[in-house]
Amino acid sequence: TPALIVAIDGPSGTGKSSTSRAVAARLGLRYLDTGAQYRAATWWMLRNGIDTADPAAVAAAAGKPEIVSGTDPAHPAITVDGADVSGPIRGPEVTGAVSAVSAVPEIRARITELQRSVARSAVPGIVVEGRDIGTTVLPDADLKIFLTASPEARAARRNGELAGTTGAPTLEATREALARRDAADSGRAASPLAKAADAVEIDTSELTLEQVIAHIITLVEQRR
Ligand code: C5P
Repeated sequence: TPALIVAIDGPSGTGKSSTSRAVAARLGLRYLDTGAQYRAATWWMLRNGIDTADPAAVAAAAGKPEIVSGTDPAHPAITVDGADVSGPIRGPEVTGAVSAVSAVPEIRARITELQRSVARSAVPGIVVEGRDIGTTVLPDADLKIFLTASPEARAARRNGELAGTTGAPTLEATREALARRDAADSGRAASPLAKAADAVEIDTSELTLEQVIAHIITLVEQRR
């Protein structure tokens, strides 16, 4: 049987990562977090003094970071030039710069190629989460999901993840930060955040994580 490919796209705060990891784990599939790859590239740019607001500087360095993604849904570690950056790529500096870096076509070309090669070699299949997986990276995916949620639900989820950390932002600040990143990711010319025509849209605002996971697993089973 050919490898099973599930594409899960959508903006942040929709439960995309938790859902994708759980679906992969329960179905015994590999897992790829493509946002982590853009974050790793951004981390490398910041680390090496590249001005992330300068697309030409980012483009010139696009081929330099050596990014390797682990695909175990239980421990999806990511390394850049051999160093594990799983923690640092979640920091505010990277989050603030990642949309600008990921809008650069040379960065997207390099990372898209990486994503396709990981997906091609995944046995017995893989869940790939991101923004443009169903539209651009893996348009032949067996199942495409597009997750959405209300701005309120997304901000509340994101703040829930940060609860207990020092300097956690207000709900309003989180909502604004998410809206800014959405606008940048949806408005860019190169492979913007978008729902594929054949994707199944799931609004997760009023659903529990468990309900979303169960729904997607049912859809996968219908397609096998
Ligand atoms: O999913 P996450 O919030 O970690 O993604 C970080 C950023 O990476 C997004 O805001 C977007 O700019 C970029 N990204 C992308 N294409 C993808 C996945 C993520 O441009 N497939």
